[in-house]
Amino acid sequence: MDKTDSFNLLRGKNGLIFGALDERSIAWRVALACSREGAAFTLSNAPIAIRFGTLQQLAEQTGSDFIPCDVTKYDQVLELVESTKNKSGKLDFILHSVGMSPNIRKELDYKKLNYKFMQQTLEISAISLHKILQACVEKDALNDGASVVALTYIAAQRIFSKYSDMNDAKALLESIARNFGSRLADKGIRVNSVSQGPTKTSAGTGIGGFDAMYEFAAKLSPLGNPTADDCADYCVTLFSDLTRMVTMQNLYHDGGFSTNGISEELIYDLAELHNKEK
Ligand SMILES: NC(=O)c1ccc[n+]([C@@H]2O[C@H](COP(=O)([O-])OP(=O)(O)OC[C@H]3O[C@@H](n4cnc5c(N)ncnc54)[C@H](O)[C@@H]3O)[C@@H](O)[C@H]2O)c1
Repeated sequence: MDKTDSFNLLRGKNGLIFGALDERSIAWRVALACSREGAAFTLSNAPIAIRFGTLQQLAEQTGSDFIPCDVTKYDQVLELVESTKNKSGKLDFILHSVGMSPNIRKELDYKKLNYKFMQQTLEISAISLHKILQACVEKDALNDGASVVALTYIAAQRIFSKYSDMNDAKALLESIARNFGSRLADKGIRVNSVSQGPTKTSAGTGIGGFDAMYEFAAKLSPLGNPTADDCADYCVTLFSDLTRMVTMQNLYHDGGFSTNGISEELIYDLAELHNKEK
């Protein structure tokens, strides 16, 4: 498959994409893939990110509108959902690609967290999914059979020391996805989380020790680390009608990392280290 090939998997669909900041953002890559597959969508990000980012460029490239919204503020989320519905109609898909931890930014150890920051981490990275979906229910903004995807990380199941309170945020995010999935299924609406392997983006590389996590995952995963474009293609399948019976799942998109115990490459590396120490 050539990167520009389209299968028209999303022809006629209308979406809302949160979290495209710059070209490396996973949401940016998802927007390009959705556009390639024939979807129309609205882009949204925090007002400050829109001011400093390059979202205008993506909007022009994909013929999309962008509307600022701080996803921690329910009134702003309601307004966004209502104006999107009024302008473009009800939604067929939503991408939640939002995350940030002030504790990580300030490099605070998990045993010395600032609780105001922790509240912000949870609000931005997890509770925002609840707010978006509650607003969609309140405004009757989702079409029957719509698909919602939230991006997450395996730190919800296993502890990654440098991921600090984002470990907790991802666990909550995945739980909210399951809970809403069970409650929206009567309309055929699916809610899933995609657990992406380490990816070189602003949020990713902002984590202390990211390079080590990236290298380790690359060596442990039989297929290697997935790129943001790989993730985008996977999200397209989940937004499409081909996956209409998949809901309430946490879906690993990680090159096999979550299942592999150890790889030949790591055994070799560790043996080398051992030999050097002798
Ligand atoms: N990069 C990785 O290694 C990796 C791996 C697995 C999962 N993820 C997840 O993918 C998602 C996207 O991250 P990314 O790596 O593309 O980084 P990114 O920094 O490009 O995206 C994060 C986005 O969240 C937005 N955001 C932060 N606070 C907000 C607020 N209050 N209101 C609205 N938007 C806000 C930012 O502006 C940014 O666009 C995140 O949920 C992240 O945890 C990333």
